[in-house]
Amino acid sequence: MRSLVTGCTGFIGSHLTEKLLREGHEVIGIDCFTDYYSREIKENNIQKALSDKNFTFLEKDIINLSTFPEVDYVFHQAAQAGVRASWGKSFEIYTENNILVTQKLLEYYKDRNLNKFVFASSSSIYGNTDELPILEDTQKKPFSPYGVTKLAAENLCLLYYMNYGTPTVSLRYFTVYGPRQRPDMGINKFVHAVLNEDRIEVYGDGNQTRDFTFISDVVEANLLAAYSDVIGEYFNIGGGSRISVNDLLKLIEKVVGKDVHIKYIEMQKGDVQHTFADVTKAEKMIGYKSVIGIEQGIIKYVYSITNE
Ligand SMILES: NC(=O)c1ccc[n+]([C@@H]2O[C@H](COP(=O)([O-])OP(=O)(O)OC[C@H]3O[C@@H](n4cnc5c(N)ncnc54)[C@H](O)[C@@H]3O)[C@@H](O)[C@H]2O)c1
Repeated sequence: MRSLVTGCTGFIGSHLTEKLLREGHEVIGIDCFTDYYSREIKENNIQKALSDKNFTFLEKDIINLSTFPEVDYVFHQAAQAGVRASWGKSFEIYTENNILVTQKLLEYYKDRNLNKFVFASSSSIYGNTDELPILEDTQKKPFSPYGVTKLAAENLCLLYYMNYGTPTVSLRYFTVYGPRQRPDMGINKFVHAVLNEDRIEVYGDGNQTRDFTFISDVVEANLLAAYSDVIGEYFNIGGGSRISVNDLLKLIEKVVGKDVHIKYIEMQKGDVQHTFADVTKAEKMIGYKSVIGIEQGIIKYVYSITNE
């Protein structure tokens, strides 16, 4: 089995690459080390995979490529991530790395004999909704430019399936966390601040909730989607651990064993109030089940940092 992982040096892509290698896949990874966060972090992420003879790394920007490796599976994780940075001039980078890059891959693979094209979509496509938990067919009203680009890319996956039969499946991840989490994300920032006894800036009043999903559950969802017979579909991938930011901070305080110092600041543009996934569809159609709850996940995350 040969697989392509785009965004292979990122948080999710690097874990997925390692898992595929453990599963016996030959993996080709593409990444261009975008400057969204440091190259050094990404080089560390991919260190283990680089020592595996079944891994080939291509340091390339997908937008500049005209051909791609012949593979059985594509796991398209590359993107310009992050909600808050997607305003203003940066939107150009978001449209390029999220929409144009996805179209380029779909256009290439539409005539190839792929088993599956798994796309990393996002809960950001839903925007603010009072209908909780969120079902897949809930109205999509992205609340950030990032969400708009992810929805456009997901729609591209669907229309390449409908027109060309490209075997796409989109997985709508709900806030992923765990070892190697991106440095701009909440849990990473919170845990490091508590460990260093720094003050934490919380956007809004801290009563906003998130459905946090542990990295190993997201990786498993990718494999389930790839190996299943399902095509032309889209699934919520949540962790079943909906918790407010205030309660999350209490949990981190307990696990780390140090006091949390909070400063509440203005809510950021593009941030939604609540996310909470209904994962029944993924359970029924691909057998997805989240196995790591928030407390266990935070313990694992803190352990990974304190034992680096
Ligand atoms: N982390 C989350 O909570 C979360 C939630 C929902 C969706 N997602 C999606 O999951 C995927 C992975 O997210 P992540 O948190 O691992 O992000 P990440 O930033 O850690 O990884 C993305 C990687 O893609 C690479 N990349 C971007 N544009 C590229 C291009 N044009 N050519 C080659 N490489 C390129 C970057 O260098 C980076 O290493 C993304 O598609 C993201 O939108 C993530």
